[in-house]
Amino acid sequence: MPTTQSFLTDIKEIRRRARQHIEKGAVTEGYKADRETAVRLLNEALATEIVCVLRYKRHQFMAKGLNATAIAEEFAEHAAEEQDHADRIAERITQLQGEPNFSPEGILTRSHSEYIEGHTLTEMVKEDLVAERIAIESYSEIIRFFGNDDPTSRRLMEEILAKEEEHAEDMASLIDRVAREHL
Ligand SMILES: [Fe+2]
Ligand SMILES: [Fe+2]
Repeated sequence: MPTTQSFLTDIKEIRRRARQHIEKGAVTEGYKADRETAVRLLNEALATEIVCVLRYKRHQFMAKGLNATAIAEEFAEHAAEEQDHADRIAERITQLQGEPNFSPEGILTRSHSEYIEGHTLTEMVKEDLVAERIAIESYSEIIRFFGNDDPTSRRLMEEILAKEEEHAEDMASLIDRVAREHL
């Protein structure tokens, strides 16, 4: 059994290592995950969020055109939250000395979720629910990858995952509402 003293790597060693490669910022020698894979996965999550922003924005304005103002507001709220997720993921990528990929080229290939417009309100909400469910599955896998090797990225993705679960629930109840109120 490790004692409290042997639990932490020798503090002198940590201090020595911290002084090396200070150009790497938050990435220390103790960083356990594979940094390149971490940045690639985070860039895929970033692309997923961007595609979700675009889809919710399209749906916001289409719903408004269909006189479904309350639903348009819900789409707008989700779009803003997906944008916040994108920003937080991009920030984490730079902390890991990576570059956030905002290039429109290949964004759909990098994204896990799809961009499907839908014509009726029901179709739109269904596509949003599908996209949320894709994000929930793929983010859960990303969280497992980070595990204890990169707790900061794991926590970030866990917080985002919790939000996507809320979004999925919102869309599921919206499907019922659209059907009930014949919107
Ligand atoms: Fe999101
Ligand atoms: Fe979402």
